[in-house]
Amino acid sequence: MKPFVKWAGGKTRLLKEIERRLPADFDTWEDATYVEPFVGGGSVLFHMLEKHENISRAVINDINPVLMHSYHRIKQDPKSIMETLKVLKNEYRRLSEDKVREAFYYRVRDTFNDMQFEDEQKVAFFIFLNHTCFNGLYRENKSGNFNVPHGKYKSPAIYEEENIMALHEALQKVEIYCGDFDSIWSSLESNPTFIYVDPPYRPISKKVLMFTLYDKSGFSDSDQLRLKEICDIFGNRGCRIMLSNSDSYDGDISYFETLYNNGYHIDRIEVTRMINPYNSKNRKPKEVIITNYPIPNHINHINE
Ligand SMILES: C[S@@+](CC[C@H](N)C(=O)[O-])C[C@H]1O[C@@H](n2cnc3c(N)ncnc32)[C@H](O)[C@@H]1O
Repeated sequence: MKPFVKWAGGKTRLLKEIERRLPADFDTWEDATYVEPFVGGGSVLFHMLEKHENISRAVINDINPVLMHSYHRIKQDPKSIMETLKVLKNEYRRLSEDKVREAFYYRVRDTFNDMQFEDEQKVAFFIFLNHTCFNGLYRENKSGNFNVPHGKYKSPAIYEEENIMALHEALQKVEIYCGDFDSIWSSLESNPTFIYVDPPYRPISKKVLMFTLYDKSGFSDSDQLRLKEICDIFGNRGCRIMLSNSDSYDGDISYFETLYNNGYHIDRIEVTRMINPYNSKNRKPKEVIITNYPIPNHINHINE
């Protein structure tokens, strides 16, 4: 299964590293609950649902309404989405001239921005725009209109029927929420629970400007503090928690090592980013993976 959208901060390339760092006995948990409060494109969600059959319930959330509405509609009625997607895809592919394709893209974008959520076709338009816009970004202007320019790809994949149907099946055990990460915790029950937390990246250091194009409100250090408090509370109730973020520093001080200094385990992995924030070939960016349980032994640490 593959995500139905490309998403900034998507974790497809880190799946192996995430999988290796799950609690060692995860597959022996009965009726496990999987929770993702910042689900984005869902690469980790769909991986977990595919690989771990002991997950009987999942709870997902994101602050982006059109994204979460799409999960909901794919869960309910994927066929009607694909009917519209097929028309859009065929029309787009039929247009060979760049200028004409571009004009078609902007017409679809305008129509999407005029649509209400009740409009059954909105999700299909969203998926089409996501695969034909620049870099699969999601960005809105001040009036809340999607404003990413055309991506000029020769033959973008857009969707595969088999994949959408597999996502539809997998979503049957998933509860879908839309809002701030704060709002979903009351839905957790007493089953063994694993929570994967992947909030927007904190800038690598205060001096380095990073691309953070998630949501109008941004994600500040006070949000990081709120999140940490919630992790403490749910960790104390027995949930196993894994968090990802950039390896962020304030001067020489590791932001996340300082914040998660009460019994959490911090691991670092090298990542390839499309935009290297250090602007240097010799210095590769790292991500931190923070867990509230010991990281399984078989992992070769690259901590400095
Ligand atoms: C790093 S991305 C998650 C990427 C995801 N793991 C994937 O593989 O696609 C962070 C997500 O957090 C969402 N977000 C930002 N602020 C939020 C908030 N306060 N509450 C919930 N979600 C939020 C963004 O919309 C974005 O989808």
